[in-house]
Amino acid sequence: MQPAVILGIESSCDETAAAVVRSGEEVISNVVASQIATHQPYGGIVPELASREHLRAIVPVVRQALAEAGKSYESIDALAVTQGPGLAGALLVGISFAKALAFALQKPLIAVNHLEGHIHAVLLEERQKGNHELRFPVLALVVSGGHTHLYLSEQRRESWSYENIGHTRDDAAGEAFDKVAKLLGLGYPGGPVIDRLSKHGNPKAVKFATSQIKHPDRRTPAASDPATSGNEGNKKKSSGAGPSRSAFPNEGRPRFDFSYSGIKTAVLRFVETNNLAPVIETRRRALADLSKPKLEDYLAHCDQQTLDLIASFQRAMVTDLVAKTLAAAREYEVATLFVTGGVAANNELRQSFEQEAAREGLPVYFPSRPLSTDNAAMIAAAAYPKFMSKDFAAMDFSAEAGMALK
Ligand code: KG4
Ligand code: ZN
Repeated sequence: MQPAVILGIESSCDETAAAVVRSGEEVISNVVASQIATHQPYGGIVPELASREHLRAIVPVVRQALAEAGKSYESIDALAVTQGPGLAGALLVGISFAKALAFALQKPLIAVNHLEGHIHAVLLEERQKGNHELRFPVLALVVSGGHTHLYLSEQRRESWSYENIGHTRDDAAGEAFDKVAKLLGLGYPGGPVIDRLSKHGNPKAVKFATSQIKHPDRRTPAASDPATSGNEGNKKKSSGAGPSRSAFPNEGRPRFDFSYSGIKTAVLRFVETNNLAPVIETRRRALADLSKPKLEDYLAHCDQQTLDLIASFQRAMVTDLVAKTLAAAREYEVATLFVTGGVAANNELRQSFEQEAAREGLPVYFPSRPLSTDNAAMIAAAAYPKFMSKDFAAMDFSAEAGMALK
């Protein structure tokens, strides 16, 4: 295959990122400017602030990625940018910049789906380790702040195709981590904090039941893939008419949907029943006064009951994600499992997937932690097959906030 050096740009949410990747298999540089400090006081992402911060960061971040790679603008073979899904205003910053740069340099521009980027982060990781063997079909769980989606993934020559066989009906898993952390006065983002604190609590202390979804849903030949959460439930089984866009003959097979708003409400109920609000408020204020709280700071402000609650919440989330993904893997008889996206950085989730998948003789792959959360190396990696097949973007393409992955 022809080698190619691709500059990737990612600005779909709250990180401005640029990376230089060779042929989808070697990260030459990977720069991420996080906006956590900007959004922290609000306990979540403020879209207007995200766009403003992307505008501020995009030029220095791209320059730094090229400098760290020892590359000039002229020496790259192509540019790749996230088209969606994500925040429209945030996406537009990366897209406008990438278009202008591609036009000025007269280089091809490739539009990439952010979710495809997360899937290719796993491939990039494995290729970097020298693992070029991959058994198909692959089932990929993309689990992040905006998504909890299961995709069957196939490669035919250069081109990849995906079929969604499950998604969250309401909150994404990362969103549940973030909302529970906010509710408990632990700040934003919640996932990494809950991950670290969970080790100090008893995961069996509080019983949480994640929602069991009754499944009227079945695969239909032309089923849509809602990239954003929820609102697609209870789709009726189709007559089977209409062309199948999918490489997968899966009509009539079950879906594996997730739901995480219930567990968030259960945590709230626990807080109310146990009258934890005053302690939470004290913790919130104490942590807000620290610019970068350390693990000891969090521990100093969490009593054992709170640590047990946190550990039990994480255990319930992990159990549900692993159980549903493995059930889907069995049903669709996949040969390989990918787990990717910000929540894939979670230690207990990784351990549990490794254990449970090994029990079924199923290989499971994760990106390294820096490639699990949002980054541009995954965008440049996903662009490589498109570069090979000359699948370039027309200059009039725009951001697609609710872009589906197919
Ligand atoms: O993929 P990502 O960086 O951005 C999106 O595309 O959403 O994922 C961010 C999400 C946040 O909800 C964050 O709390 C969660 O990933 N996250 C984690 C961990 N690290 C990040 N969740 C659980 N455990 C972690 N270690
Ligand atoms: Zn993401």
